[in-house]
Formats: sequence, C-alpha cells, structure tokens
Amino acid sequence: MGKLLIVSVLIAALAVLISERFSTLRNRTLAFRELTQNHLPNCELLKGIEIGAEDITILEHGLAFISSGLKYPGMPRYSDEPGKIYTLHLPSGDDPTELQIKGDFDTASFAPHGISVYINEEDGSVYLFVVNHPHKNSQVEIFQYVEEENALLHQKTIKHELLHNVNDIVAVGVENFYATNDHYFTNDHLKLLEMLLSLHWCDVVYYSPEAVRVVAGGLLNANGINISPDKKYLYVSDLMSHRVIVLNIQKDKSLSRVKEVAVGSLCDNIEVESKTGDLWLGCHPNGIKIILSDPNDPPGSEVIRVQNILSDKPVVTQVYSDNGSVLIGSSVATPYKGKLLIGTIYQKALVCDLE
Ligand SMILES: *[C@@H]1O[C@H](CO)[C@@H](O)[C@H](O)[C@H]1NC(C)=O
Ligand SMILES: *[C@@H]1O[C@H](CO)[C@@H](O)[C@H](O)[C@H]1NC(C)=O
Repeated sequence: MGKLLIVSVLIAALAVLISERFSTLRNRTLAFRELTQNHLPNCELLKGIEIGAEDITILEHGLAFISSGLKYPGMPRYSDEPGKIYTLHLPSGDDPTELQIKGDFDTASFAPHGISVYINEEDGSVYLFVVNHPHKNSQVEIFQYVEEENALLHQKTIKHELLHNVNDIVAVGVENFYATNDHYFTNDHLKLLEMLLSLHWCDVVYYSPEAVRVVAGGLLNANGINISPDKKYLYVSDLMSHRVIVLNIQKDKSLSRVKEVAVGSLCDNIEVESKTGDLWLGCHPNGIKIILSDPNDPPGSEVIRVQNILSDKPVVTQVYSDNGSVLIGSSVATPYKGKLLIGTIYQKALVCDLE
C-alpha cells in the first residue's frame, strides 16, 4: 500500500509539473493571443525577396543590406536554396539587388542570419558582419562591401566555442563585435528541454581578436542585439520573456544591466534610429504559430517601436500588425525617411509609408 501511494503521489506531482510547464510555455509563447489588423498605407512587397529577409540594416544615406535564406535548426519551413545578401537603395522605388560574394568562401552552404555594418572611420570602408549557419554550425563572417562591383569580398570567418548558437551581432570595430547566443545547448533535444524548463542560460559574448568572453548572462532567449547612437548602451531582445534588456557598456567592454522594458510580443531583431535613438522591433505576436508554421494558420507580423527607452517612462507602441495574410513572421523593421521596411524569417519583405 505504502509504495503504491508514493508512486501515485509521484505520478500526480509529475502531471502537475508537466501541465505547469506547458502552461508556462503557452504564456511564454503568447499562444492565445489574437491579432487585430493594424496596417500602414501604401505597402508594397519587395520584388525578388521570397525566402526571407530575416535581418535588415540601413546606412545613413539609405543603403539597406538584407539577409535572406536563413536555415535555422528547428524551424520547419525554410528553403534549400543558398542564402543571399541583397542591397536596396531607399527611399527610391528600385528593386533589391543581389550582391556577388567574392573571395575564398563557400556560397553553396551560406545560411545568413543576423547582420551588422561597421564603417571604418579612417578610410570609410564598409564591413558587413554576418552570422552564418553552414551545415547547422554557428560562425561569423566578415565581408568588405565593394560598391563599384556590387560585391562582398570575404575577409574572415570567426569560429569560437563561446559562439555556439549565435543569433545576432553588433559590430563595434573592424574585427570586434558583441553576439547573442539564443540557446545554451547545441543538441536539438536539449534545446527543447531548455525551452520547456525556461532555463535562463543564454548569454552575450564579446569578441575581439585578443580575447573572447561572456559579458552578460541569465537570459531566457537572447535574440536581436543593437547599440545606441552614442555607443554607450546595448539593447538585447530577450524574446521569450517579451522584454528588451538595456545594458551599459563599460570601458573594458563588459556590460552592466541597467533595466528591462516590457514589449508585449516576442521580439526578434532590433534596429535603432540614429536621429532619435528609438528602437524598432520586428516581433512574433504568437510564438506557437511560428513553431508550427502552418500555411493554413500562418504566424502573423508585428512591429513595435520604443521611444525614450533610457528615460523613466519609455513609450511602447504597436506600429504595424498583420494576421499573416500579407506578411508572415516579421523579424525586423527599420524606418528610413518616412518609409518602414519590414522583413520576415522565411517569407517576404514589405515597404510601407509610415504616415
Ligand atoms: C499564465 O498566464 C495566466 C494569465 O496571465 C496566469 O493566470 C497563469 O498563472 C500563468 N501561468 C503560468 C504557469 O505562468
Ligand atoms: C486576416 O484578416 C482578414 C481580414 O482583415 C481576413 O480576411 C483573413 O481571412 C485573415 N487571415 C488569416 C490568415 O487569419
């Protein structure tokens, strides 16, 4: 009798634990959230973008870089085509142009993810840093952008044991960057367990040729990362906790936590508007739909803007939302002179008027 009772109690406890875990996961993924349409005027899909525009970054004079063709382990819907980098000149109505990749680089296995641009102040040369997942690995590529040739010249591949699940990067020097790891484990089963147990084991890594180290930890699912216009603060989207973490950059490049701002959505990449310092976030309004990626019940899209993030009263606004009938799985949004460019994980990209 005694043993049977203990076994029953254990089974009951396990059932409670499992249902509590799934309930937490439903909350974390905002699984029950219904989306109302909040469209912008004069939206047009970008020609030629069919396999995603997971990350986008725009330079001061309106040149946008677009990373397309993400192959993300665990994401059911992605193309077998090699990834590509496109440029687009804003605010003109031109179509995106695919950049040629030159140098000693395997384009067949190219699987670009987060991107960041660094401009060398001394000679004006432009470097594009790209998170790449060839054969499910995780590494960072540095390219030089050669405008006259419409090309990217491969400079260097960076691999390191601390760069094990890189999602996004922000370049802070010719060979220096901060990177987010969106999981602790690299094994797919353990990744799932990590999510089910809500382990806060993700981190931010600082890379320089001299030293590589973890500079912030304790994150549930570190995703997009970007820097303030004055280069004093880093912003990290902790996707599953629906928050942006604000970190102060110390002299030795380590980071100290300043605060967290709730954004109410599963936000992916962060773009920072240089004039205002506003954050623009491409977000997943319903995480379960992203995981399932059912074409008949597609994940929607949402763009969130955060103003005055460093003040006592940041303003969080939904700028755009769609139920998936126009745009599926928005992962990035960036404004330029009255236009808003929105990219997605594996589908299309949209350009709209902001007013
Ligand atoms: C999930 O969210 C609901 C409503 O906000 C709350 O009542 C419930 O306690 C949450 N469950 C867990 C396990 O966090
Ligand atoms: C999205 O909403 C529109 C109405 O604005 C509706 O016609 C359409 O069926 C909805 N699509 C999905 C995928 O829910």
